[in-house]
Amino acid sequence: MDFNKLNTLKGFMPLHEGEALARWSEEFSILGPALEIGTFGGKSSLFIAAGTSKHEQLVFTIDHHSGSEEHQSGEEYFDSTIYDESLGRVNTLPLMQFNLQQFDESRFIVPIIANANLIAHLWTINLGLLFIDGSHTEMSSQNDYANWNEKIITGGALVIHDIFENPEEGGQAPFLIYQKALSDGYTLHERVDTIACLIKK
Ligand SMILES: C[S@@+](CC[C@H](N)C(=O)[O-])C[C@H]1O[C@@H](n2cnc3c(N)ncnc32)[C@H](O)[C@@H]1O
Repeated sequence: MDFNKLNTLKGFMPLHEGEALARWSEEFSILGPALEIGTFGGKSSLFIAAGTSKHEQLVFTIDHHSGSEEHQSGEEYFDSTIYDESLGRVNTLPLMQFNLQQFDESRFIVPIIANANLIAHLWTINLGLLFIDGSHTEMSSQNDYANWNEKIITGGALVIHDIFENPEEGGQAPFLIYQKALSDGYTLHERVDTIACLIKK
């Protein structure tokens, strides 16, 4: 995959963290498919597919495509180009479609348009890698971790994005589930800046 081209897409995954995500996806998708919570425009999904495609393994990616709290009108990351006037809300689905179709590896990506909380209890496929990058409110992050970490196969990976120890640098919700995972017995595999890969024992 052309990472420099991928890096030009609209999204929230810087290149150095995306490259780490691709590496871990290649490593852990030997054990099973990957699943992402928080597709947005598919940028991180494509980094994951760069890795899983080496084993012809799938990436499931879940998003309701209405944006997180910080993407809404008047908030810090509001972007008028992803606001659909006819729907009266943010809609990141067209952006995802536009981005995915530029990369051949997108044939391994299975988008799921849903609230991740709604489908977790029905999900029975063991995951080689789970990537949590949905809403960053404390309750949402805790729900994503509680609902989905049990789907990871033993020896598989839990990847968490936007970990900031210092509250002045960013919200604490991902850091709190990172700490919870460590206290639940996950071990740190590798961390690159704000993204960390933990292994399930
Ligand atoms: C920070 S963005 C994801 C960024 C993306 N991973 C990237 O690297 O470009 C968070 C996304 O999570 C989605 N989201 C928030 N809560 C969700 C939920 N409960 N279920 C599904 N998607 C959710 C939002 O719609 C938003 O697109």
